[in-house]
Amino acid sequence: MSQVVLLADDDAAIRMVLNQALTRAGYEVRPTGNISTMWNWVSRGEGDILITDVAMPDGNAFEVMPKIRKLRPDLPMIVMSAQNTFMTAIRANEVGAYEYLPKPFDITEVLSVVARALADVRKPTTGQRSGDEPADTMPLVGRSAAMQEIYRALARLMQTDLTVMITGESGTGKELVARALHDFGKRRNGPFVAINMAAIPRDLIEAELFGHEKGAFTGANTRSSGRFEQAEGGTLFLDEIGDMPMDAQTRLLRVLQEGEYTMVGGRTAIKTNVRIVAATHRDLGQMIRQGLFREDLYYRLNVVPIRLPPLRERVDDIGDLALHFLRVAQRDGEPVKAITPEAIKLMQNYAWPGNVRELENLVRRLSALYADERISVEIVQNELNITDRPTGSSSNGVVDVSVAVEAHVGQMLGEYEPNLPPAGLYQRVLDRVEAPLIAMALNACGGNQIKAADLLGLNRNTLRKKIRVHSIEIVKHSRRGH
Ligand SMILES: Nc1ncnc2c1ncn2[C@@H]1O[C@H](COP(=O)(O)OP(=O)(O)OP(=O)(O)O)[C@@H](O)[C@H]1O
Ligand SMILES: [Mg+2]
Repeated sequence: MSQVVLLADDDAAIRMVLNQALTRAGYEVRPTGNISTMWNWVSRGEGDILITDVAMPDGNAFEVMPKIRKLRPDLPMIVMSAQNTFMTAIRANEVGAYEYLPKPFDITEVLSVVARALADVRKPTTGQRSGDEPADTMPLVGRSAAMQEIYRALARLMQTDLTVMITGESGTGKELVARALHDFGKRRNGPFVAINMAAIPRDLIEAELFGHEKGAFTGANTRSSGRFEQAEGGTLFLDEIGDMPMDAQTRLLRVLQEGEYTMVGGRTAIKTNVRIVAATHRDLGQMIRQGLFREDLYYRLNVVPIRLPPLRERVDDIGDLALHFLRVAQRDGEPVKAITPEAIKLMQNYAWPGNVRELENLVRRLSALYADERISVEIVQNELNITDRPTGSSSNGVVDVSVAVEAHVGQMLGEYEPNLPPAGLYQRVLDRVEAPLIAMALNACGGNQIKAADLLGLNRNTLRKKIRVHSIEIVKHSRRGH
C-alpha cells in the first residue's frame, strides 16, 4: 500500500507540480489549499507525512504545527516557504519540522527529503522548545541563496553543543553568527563570552583564557577569573583564532581534549562546561602548511565549519542590508531616508572589500552627512569613488576582464610569497569568472534556463549543474521594456 502525503499550499501551481512528482514516485497525495482541511486530516490520523506551506489564507502553519507534534509526534512535517528569512528557518526548526525547504525548491530535493523523512520515522525529530522563547527579532539580514544555506545550517545547530568554526573575510558577520548560535541555542540562558586573540598581548592570552592565581606573575596581585570560568554553562567565542600563539594553542588543545584546565600559577584541575565557537578571517589550511597553526587543534575546532561568503558573492543581499541599516539609523534619530533602486544597483557592482561592515558604515555616513531625502546614484558614486578605480577601468567604467584576471592572479601569487598558493588555481580562477557570467546570463533571460543555456551556448544539463555548484539564485521575471 502506498504511503500518503498530505500537501498543504495555497498556490495551486505548486500543488499540481508536487502532486504529479510525488504521484509518479509512487505516493498517494492529498492536496489542499488551506490549513483547516489539513488539520482535519491530521487530527483524524490520516497521512504518513505532511508537506506544508507557512502562510495560508486561513492561518499560519507555524501555529498548528506544535499541536500536530503533540497529537502525532511520528508524523514528519516538511515546511516550504517563500519567506526565506533567518527566522523562518529557526521557527521551522522550533516547531519540530523535519526539514525546511526555501522556495523555489528543487523537485528532486523534495522527493529525496520525503523519502529520507519516511525512512527516519519513529526516530524523534529535534527537541521542542519550552518556556522562554527567544525574542522574535531578526539578527541576520539577507535572503540570498548563500545565506539561506547558512540559516538552515544554523537552525540545525541550535539544539546541539557542537563546536563550530566560522570563517569568512573581515566584516562578513562572523561575530553576529556566533551570537545568533548562542542567543537561539539551548545555552541561551547562560553567558556568552568573547575573547579576541588578536587584541590581547601574546604573553597574556593564557591568563586571559584560564585566569591566574594571586602571585602567578609580576603584577598578578589578586586571583583573577579567566574566560573559561566566566563562560561556564554558556558559550565561549574564540575570535581571531588564527592569531593565537603556538604555546597557547597547545594549552587550548589539551583543555579541549580533557575538558578541564588549571589557572596560570594554579595546581588544581577545574572541570569546564562551555560550548566553543571559533572564528577567523585567515586561511587556517595555509597556516597549518606553514607551521603556524596546529593541525590537531584545527580538527578539534572544525567540527562544523560555516563559511560566510563575501558580500560580492551575495549581491542580492545588498538591498535588504542597506534598508536594514537605514532603519537602524532612523531608530538612532537620523532623518527618514530612502535609497533609489539605481543607487542599490550601483552598490551591487561594487566589490565591498570590507563586506557588510563597509556597507553599514557607508549607509550610516550617507544618512548622517547628506541632507537629501533620497540617496541617489550620484551620492553613492561620490562616496564609493566608483568612477575612478585605479586599474583595469576603460573609459566607460567597465573593467577589462583580462586586466582584472591578471590583477587577481597577481594578488593571489603575492599573498603566498615566497611559497605558491594551494593547488587548483586554474579551477578557482575559472570559478570566479563563471559564477557572475552565468548569473548575469540568467538574469538577462528573465531566469529562463533554456534561453540562458542558448545564450551561453551551453548544454542545459551543464547549465543546471553549474547553477547548483555556484548556488546561483534564479529570479524569474519578465525583462524590462518587453
Ligand atoms: N547578515 C547581516 N545582517 C545584519 N547585519 C550584519 C550582517 N552581517 C554583518 N552585519 C553587521 O556588520 C558588522 C560586521 O559584522 P561582524 O563584526 O559580525 O563581522 P566579522 O566577520 O566578525 O568581522 P571581522 O573579521 O572584521 O571581525 C556588524 O555591525 C554586524 O552587525
Ligand atoms: Mg569579528
